[in-house]
Amino acid sequence: MTALNDIHAAIWKALATGAGPQRSPLTMWQAATNGIGEAAGMPQVRTVVLRDADQTGGAISFHTDVRSAKVAQLRADPRIALTGLDLGNLLQIRLEGRAQICADEAERRAVWNAARQHTLILYRTPFAPGTPLGTPEAGHVDARGDDDGDGDGYANFCVVRVVLDRLEYLDISPDGHRRAVFRRDDGWHGAWIAP
Ligand SMILES: Cc1cc2nc3c(=O)[nH]c(=O)nc-3n(C[C@H](O)[C@H](O)[C@H](O)COP(=O)(O)O)c2cc1C
Repeated sequence: MTALNDIHAAIWKALATGAGPQRSPLTMWQAATNGIGEAAGMPQVRTVVLRDADQTGGAISFHTDVRSAKVAQLRADPRIALTGLDLGNLLQIRLEGRAQICADEAERRAVWNAARQHTLILYRTPFAPGTPLGTPEAGHVDARGDDDGDGDGYANFCVVRVVLDRLEYLDISPDGHRRAVFRRDDGWHGAWIAP
């Protein structure tokens, strides 16, 4: 019988693979926040790329535009839930935690410097995500240049670290059919739950 420890290890292995340089089924995650303003009370969900998995700190991170709605939502309420799906293995992983918008300038610069260049071009746009545009082309980065002074988009670059307090693993493959949850207090505590 599979031990809960093995499932916990499998979750972190999957997160590490998802955050790795090669695209994998767990590269893309759906991240849900709580809406604010007109969307108060309405869940807000969107795709983000998993950028880092830190098992020691029990955290993951993703990159975003500091002007995006999700950042305003997370500043108002840091609670966030993420779901990843490995369809080939009929495996779903769900995460819950609290987001920290990186305010450490040295860390933000180091992450920017380590990121692949093509992933950073989008941050050069003068248009905050969600800005109305006359045409799709008007929003292309090279159509307007940038507005953040030094031209590289760094001012718009935001690292969101999510300190996790709940992990959930659901395997519905024929040989699997198991669901486990791990909650954190002084360490991670796992339990089997009904799928
Ligand atoms: C394949 C894919 C990957 C994406 N990755 C990210 C990402 O890593 N970070 C991000 O902020 N938005 C990413 N997006 C865009 C978001 O899904 C979303 O549309 C955008 O961030 C605006 O969301 P918001 O208005 O809720 O803040 C991605 C979209 C797609 C289709």
